Amino acid sequence: MSGRLDGKVAMITGAARGMGATEARLFAREGARLVLGDVLDEALAKLASELEGAGHEVLAQRRDVTQESEWAAFVAAAEARFGRLDVLVNNAGILDMAGIEETSGEAWDRVVAVNQTGVWLGMKAAVPAMRRAGGGSIVNKSSIFGIVGSGGSAAYHATKGAVRLLTKTAALQYAPEAIRVNSVHPGYIDTPMVREAMPEVGEMSDELIAMQVPLGRMGLPEDIARGVLYLASDESSYVTGAELVIDGGVTAR
Ligand SMILES: NC(=O)c1ccc[n+]([C@@H]2O[C@H](COP(=O)([O-])OP(=O)(O)OC[C@H]3O[C@@H](n4cnc5c(N)ncnc54)[C@H](O)[C@@H]3O)[C@@H](O)[C@H]2O)c1
Repeated sequence: MSGRLDGKVAMITGAARGMGATEARLFAREGARLVLGDVLDEALAKLASELEGAGHEVLAQRRDVTQESEWAAFVAAAEARFGRLDVLVNNAGILDMAGIEETSGEAWDRVVAVNQTGVWLGMKAAVPAMRRAGGGSIVNKSSIFGIVGSGGSAAYHATKGAVRLLTKTAALQYAPEAIRVNSVHPGYIDTPMVREAMPEVGEMSDELIAMQVPLGRMGLPEDIARGVLYLASDESSYVTGAELVIDGGVTAR
């Protein structure tokens, strides 16, 4: 059986855990050769050996998305190992739940550096390689918090909203070169990010979740990975500048 990403080289940032790791596993099963980056060395190395043990081709490197020089080295390493780059998933992100007055300048700058500057630097570094490959697909991780407000998480909202429109303007700039750029907007997804920020999530009653989420459950990383796979693959070849909301109906209200 052929895979939906056969022949493609896919780079995923923040791949060591959470959604990024789930996307790496799914992409590998669908035939992609993988280029994985994160700042969590141990977890990244563990994932890489798991995937290699299952017979997949993986290049895993410690890469901080806030550093332009690291992006250049990362893309160069991908092309040196696999000869091309077809897909970039700008997945790495951090959460800060502080409100407007409670957010320090330092915290603001850090969230912007990872969630917003990191996405811009990723596209800047990957586009020349995709041009050499004859086209490509970039998937930027935004959030439902890039579409609606929540009354907190000031820096997070600002960056996720920025990613939404950065995606659309990049889509327009690169459409003539067959490089598609789309954003994904997850709702409440059960990952280490959410567990660390809100330890009470594990104890949320079914009733409380049902009140928050029309489909009546928290999302799983797999729910998001399947949407990212669609956008990464040629099945979405007429889709660019789009925002794929995967939130169990939260923003339909
Ligand atoms: N979990 C949710 O409910 C939710 C909802 C909407 C959007 N998102 C977004 O989805 C993406 C993945 O989130 P997750 O829930 O899997 O989080 P996570 O914390 O489980 O995983 C994020 C990964 O990004 C990595 N990372 C952080 N800073 C980095 C840096 N400077 N360079 C490279 N890697 C870095 C982390 O080490 C981690 O492995 C994020 O962009 C997040 O904002 C999450």
